Amino acid sequence: MRKQLITLTVNGDRCEVAVTPDMRLLDLIRDELELKGTKEGCGEGECGACTVIMNGLPVNACLVLAPQAAEADIVTIEGLTTNGTMSLLQRQFLDNGAVQCGFCSPGMIMTAKALLDDNPAPSEDDVRDALSGNLCRCTGYEKIVDAVLVTAALVGQGSAESVPGEGGAA
Ligand code: FES
Ligand code: FES
Repeated sequence: MRKQLITLTVNGDRCEVAVTPDMRLLDLIRDELELKGTKEGCGEGECGACTVIMNGLPVNACLVLAPQAAEADIVTIEGLTTNGTMSLLQRQFLDNGAVQCGFCSPGMIMTAKALLDDNPAPSEDDVRDALSGNLCRCTGYEKIVDAVLVTAALVGQGSAESVPGEGGAA
């Protein structure tokens, strides 16, 4: 199938990638860029495991065609780590027991990051609503919600563990 070159920004780096019309953003991220943190669960937009942030909004990378990402700004879970140091949000997922098998965690964290970037002081309902498209088989969700609320509280208290350059405190 005929390929076209697209340019996009992924985790702050400009990339040029040859894509086919039917390539998914998920394949571009995992197979072309070798960023394996983004997971494929259902492949149908139902589970949220493949969530990345595209132009500031959480999207299911399995539902976005790679050519649609031309000139887009993409952030994946790898983009939250700075020089090997986890972001505050990632740390709170671990510290609050929100990670068990971990398969849903990258997607959960990216959805939560998009929420906190947009609404730094969400209510519990806001968090549950934002995460409603992300499925977890292991945790029962309570600890995930706790992790997001604790992160918001810490950011509100002025925690310095923000993520420089990724457009948000969490
Ligand atoms: S793999 Fe994309 S939503 Fe499930
Ligand atoms: S921690 Fe296993 S699916 Fe969420």
